[in-house]
Amino acid sequence: MSGPTLVRTRLELAAHLAAARRTGERVALVPTMGALHDGHASLMRLARERVGAGPVVVSVFVNPLQFGEAADLDSYPRTLEADLEVCAREGVDVVFAPGVDEVYPGGEPQVTVHPGPLGDVLEGRTRPGHYRGVLTVVAKLLGLVRPDVAVFGQKDYQQLVLIRRMVADLCLDVEVVGAETRREDDGLAMSSRNVHLDPEQRLQAVALSRALGAAADQASFGAKVALDAAREELRDAAGVDLDYLEVTDPALDVLPDDPAAGTEARALIAARVGSTRLIDNVPLVLGVPAAGPASSPSSTDPHQE
Ligand code: PAF
Repeated sequence: MSGPTLVRTRLELAAHLAAARRTGERVALVPTMGALHDGHASLMRLARERVGAGPVVVSVFVNPLQFGEAADLDSYPRTLEADLEVCAREGVDVVFAPGVDEVYPGGEPQVTVHPGPLGDVLEGRTRPGHYRGVLTVVAKLLGLVRPDVAVFGQKDYQQLVLIRRMVADLCLDVEVVGAETRREDDGLAMSSRNVHLDPEQRLQAVALSRALGAAADQASFGAKVALDAAREELRDAAGVDLDYLEVTDPALDVLPDDPAAGTEARALIAARVGSTRLIDNVPLVLGVPAAGPASSPSSTDPHQE
């Protein structure tokens, strides 16, 4: 198994992608902050499906611009050796792991991508400036790699919505693919932050996906009933410090007062378990009885959009 080429600079990256550009091969980018897990691996597989024999590039960059607290940035797991192994297993061609100076050569950039009002709700309320940092680095990575396809997980659903919005509003020439959240067997969404949970917190953390599962189960009775069911599920959840639990429309707008049967929605949750902040979300279809038995977010559903 030959591993991916590790490149550290923009010049090396350009040199490695030159052949693909000459021959017109499609290029895929999977932007990550490293600490790769099975969820990331599924993004890489999706990227491969989209570009066939063309190069799949994984970027590994812990972006200081999207962290509020220095402590959070410092404690973010950095595991490049293990990340390279995950990328090798998934047949990734290039891992782009630049240093901070390579991405921000002039220090903090003066011109950044402002997310607009959607950057101030949900995650943005608790993490001011976070999505400005995310969009700025994603715009840079798109500019450096110039991929045909970029793959992001749906776990940070607000991020995915904002990236799609940026690509549309700034006419960026890339297809954005959102991949279904991968889950542990008990339903916990896979996340690089899960390594910070001790065994007791790991058990407590499953309350988030349980609450979302309860919302999905009750969605046929409408958004309010779904939300109440999720709240009820959290009522006695030990160790879970809820930040938000909301049901919105798929674009994160407020739902209409009386949505028609079949209206699509999204249930989103964020909470601290110990000192670890976790987020999760699921799609809902309002007013339509679920087809199968009562569900919680599945650990195996490979659906993607
Ligand atoms: O989702 C992430 O890992 C990061 O926010 C991203 C998209 C790689 C930007 O730093």
